[in-house]
Amino acid sequence: MALVPFDDRDGQIWYDGVMVPWREAKLHVLSHGLHYASGVFEGERAYGGNIFKLRAHTDRLLASGRILGFDIPWTAEQIDAACKQVLAANGQSDAYVRPIAWRGAEQLSVSAQQTKIHLAIATWAWPNLFGDNRMKGVRLGMAEWRRPHPQTAPTASKAAGLYMIGTLSKHAAEAAGFDDALMLDWRGQVAEATGANVFFVIDGELHTPTPDCFLDGITRRSVKALAGKRQIKVVERAIMPEEMPRASEVFLAGTAAEVTPVRQIGKLEYTPGRVTETLLRDYEQLVRMAPAEVERAAPI
Ligand SMILES: Cc1ncc(COP(=O)(O)O)c(C=O)c1O
Repeated sequence: MALVPFDDRDGQIWYDGVMVPWREAKLHVLSHGLHYASGVFEGERAYGGNIFKLRAHTDRLLASGRILGFDIPWTAEQIDAACKQVLAANGQSDAYVRPIAWRGAEQLSVSAQQTKIHLAIATWAWPNLFGDNRMKGVRLGMAEWRRPHPQTAPTASKAAGLYMIGTLSKHAAEAAGFDDALMLDWRGQVAEATGANVFFVIDGELHTPTPDCFLDGITRRSVKALAGKRQIKVVERAIMPEEMPRASEVFLAGTAAEVTPVRQIGKLEYTPGRVTETLLRDYEQLVRMAPAEVERAAPI
């Protein structure tokens, strides 16, 4: 399938407060965000016209900016409204939503105190990659790169720079025939995939790594709430890779991946089963509820 480049599409992009035609949403090559990765972003999904957990994503975007030392010059209310406005302008009800904030071109050096903070929001169609075949599961290779110590990188921020090792890991996994990579952290504990958190079913309980050096995903927190409703015990703890053979099921959770069963990690094979399917279906129902209902059904 031919790729449609992201800079050559139809539609509107919200850019610093105004809607601009898609192809005109440009920035200068000497922008600080490009050279020094001073950018933070979000990945959201709209279902039936509602952006799932929109305020949680917007709050995380603002917090990510603050962690990188800048205030995004818009309130949460304004950003929520802008996300909805782009979705409507592009005539979409089911879509991926991508807000991104970055330091501008006023100053191009490590110090960037005088840079202006920009914000852009785009939406595009991005159906679940696995469609009806999702229960088949994906295959993960083990990454060589590790999630860094929180004193080595701003790991609580959804910062663009943190994705550098994600892309390296995903490319290596794809070159070896896998769909994605599973990353360990700086201690050698299981961390997450390159764009989603991971859950293991062990003796009927749900085990997931403590998110102390990687993103505590909004999907992850929603899945924990859904598991609670099903009386499935959730255990958040340090998980060593040596324990992975004990798991009977494994799945990923993230906005883009939604709930995605895993059928292989390196040489280990898994059969996606009842717990994964139950939570996958519960999540599918949750995302299509009205926003107020979502908060009641899965508070995070
Ligand atoms: C590295 C990484 N971890 C975890 C997640 C899952 O986060 P969320 O469920 O909030 O999308 C994402 C996706 O945003 C991610 O990019």
